[in-house]
Formats: sequence, structure tokens, C-alpha cells
Amino acid sequence: MLVAGSKAAGVCPVVVSSRERSAAWEPIVAPVEPFLETVNLRLAEQVDAFEPEIAGIVRDALTHQGKQLRPALVALSAEATGGLNDSLVTVATIIEIVHVATLIHDDVMDEARIRRRRLTLAAQMGNALAVLAGDCLFAHALQLAAGFPTPDVCRAVAAATRTVCSGETLQTLQEGQISLSREEYFRILRMKTAELFALSCELGAQLSGAGEFEQRALREYGLALGTAYQVYDDCLDLFGEERAVGKSLGTDLAVGKVTLPVIVALERATAAESAEAREWLGSWQPRHLPKLLEFLDRHGAFAEAAGVLQSLCRSARRALTGLPAGPGVASLKAVTEYLIQQAAALDGRRPPAH
Ligand code: IPE
Ligand code: IPE
Ligand code: MG
Ligand code: MG
Repeated sequence: MLVAGSKAAGVCPVVVSSRERSAAWEPIVAPVEPFLETVNLRLAEQVDAFEPEIAGIVRDALTHQGKQLRPALVALSAEATGGLNDSLVTVATIIEIVHVATLIHDDVMDEARIRRRRLTLAAQMGNALAVLAGDCLFAHALQLAAGFPTPDVCRAVAAATRTVCSGETLQTLQEGQISLSREEYFRILRMKTAELFALSCELGAQLSGAGEFEQRALREYGLALGTAYQVYDDCLDLFGEERAVGKSLGTDLAVGKVTLPVIVALERATAAESAEAREWLGSWQPRHLPKLLEFLDRHGAFAEAAGVLQSLCRSARRALTGLPAGPGVASLKAVTEYLIQQAAALDGRRPPAH
């Protein structure tokens, strides 16, 4: 039985802002809430593993939690196939640390100032320390993973971390390429985002004692859900409201990152429209935003992106066919419905320039 409660003395308070959790999300994670609280405490305990100077730098990142999607997927996948145990807490902690490290580095590359309603580490301490803090966290996650009795978990975490970083690298190489194809876009999404979702689901199943078939099914679910999640996040960057989301938005085009709604509109535009759009996309300024939103609207770009997201969510649900019905599988299905609803809520928002 997993209950929240820290053995470590002096562990810093863990903050999970209620604003990160909407009312519709609460019932989905209710069955694994004690698990998530235990993961939070385990994350906060990791601060003390670092030298005092470095602990001061990584404390915020390890104690101000986001939506805890990946730990929730570890727990729900385990619930769907076996049950919760302490090694799952460790693996969820490891995956969340990898995720936090990628966010710290991502904010350097995207020149983002706000993350989880606070200044990014780069904005607080500069790029050099943010890069180094991210490196320390990656290495710490792998050190924790090496503590498992067999090398399988460490191998899986290392491989997934490499895929995520490679995805971010491919994306950075593509920045400024207005002609990015759907194929190239989805390859990057699968690597930079979906892989960690897949790892969470697969290891959740594996460490709860599930067999090959169930592990593979949950990995497929995670890949489809993770891809859908990044499509949603890319829509959020264009159509969301920074205050509600709690992180910098509008950074994708600012660094030359072309995402699905823009790809769709360029596919559908006439040669003249496309030539004009490429001109202002190529030298992006926030003042171009109203023009861009009108261009996206004219070509039904949001509706098409939402349709792609729905189809990915259907694939995620299909991957669960064959798993025993129960609260775990029901919650995993509910996650896909939740994501579709969150995406639908973005329709029609026309925010002022970020
Ligand atoms: C942000 O992930 C990065 C993406 C993959 C889009 P989350 O939206 O899960 O971020 P937190 O953990 O809640 O801050
Ligand atoms: C980053 O994608 C995904 C990662 C692997 C870190 P984004 O750049 O869109 O994530 P946000 O919007 O900054 O959270
Ligand atoms: Mg970013
Ligand atoms: Mg984003």
C-alpha cells in the first residue's frame, strides 16, 4: 500500500498547484493519488543528493510539480495490469526527473521565461547554469535507474532519454525550415515527447508484473497519447492563454519552430497566400500574430489539428483492446477523452499577441 509520508528529515515542501489540475482531471487520477504524493516526496528527497550549491539550483525544479502526467501514466498502467509497488514510485521519480531536465534545457533553447508559473531556471540563473543543472539531473536519473537489481530499467531509461534528446536536436536542426513536412513533424514529436509517455506506460506495466503483450500494448498507447499531447501543446502555443497555462507561449514561431496548424494552412494555401505567409513566418515578429491567426482560421487549421489529435487518441484507446477491463484501463481511456476536451476548449480563442 502506498501512502504519502517522507522518511527524510527536512524535505522541502512539495508544491502541486491546484491550477495545474482541472476538475475534470481529478477523478482520472483519484485512484492513484497516494502514489503521486509519494512520488512528489521522493522527488523532493532527491534535492539532498546534490552538493549544497547545486541543491540550491535544482530545488525549485524538483519541488514545484507540474501536471504529473508521466508519473500518473506509470501508476495507471500498473493499475491496469498488476498493481502498485515501491519500484514503480522509483521509476516514476526517475522519469519525472528526466522530464524536468528536458524542460530546463528546452527553456534555454526556446528562450522561455515562465515555466510552472515561475521564472525558468535560465531566466533566474542564466543559460550556463541551466544547462549544467539539466545535465546533473539527467545523470542523477540514470544513477537512480542503475540501482535496480537488473540493468533492464536503466537501459530503457537511457535509451528513451537519448531518443528525447535526439528529438530535440532534430527539431533544433529544423528550426527556420518553413517547409517542414507532416512526416518530419511527427517524427520529431514521437521522439521528443511520445517516447517518454511510452516509457512510462511500458515500465509501469513491466514493474507491475505484466507480460510482453500488455507491455507492448501500453507502449503503443503511450506513443499515440504522447504524440496527441504534443499536438495539443503545439496548439496551446498558438491559441492558448499564457496566464491560464502558466508557461511562456508563442515561443515556437519565435524560434522558427513550425507546428501542425501552420503546416496544415501552408498545405491548403494558394501559391500566392503561401508565398506571403512564408515571408512573415521567416522573419517572425509577435505583431504578425493576428495575420497568422486569420491565415490559420481561413484554412481550418485548428479543426484539422484537432481531428488529427482525436484520431491519435482513438489509436491510443484501440491499443488497450485486449487488456482486462478495470479501473486502470478506464482511467487510461479517460485520459484520451480529457485531452480531446482540453483541445476542443482552445477553439475560437484569439489571444492578443504574447
Ligand atoms: C511539457 O510537458 C512539455 C511537453 C511535452 C509539451 P507537460 O505539459 O507535462 O509539463 P508539466 O510537467 O506539466 O510542467
Ligand atoms: C518540448 O516541446 C518537449 C520536450 C521534450 C521538452 P515544447 O517546447 O513545445 O514544450 P513547452 O511548450 O516548452 O512545454
Ligand atoms: Mg519549449
Ligand atoms: Mg510547447
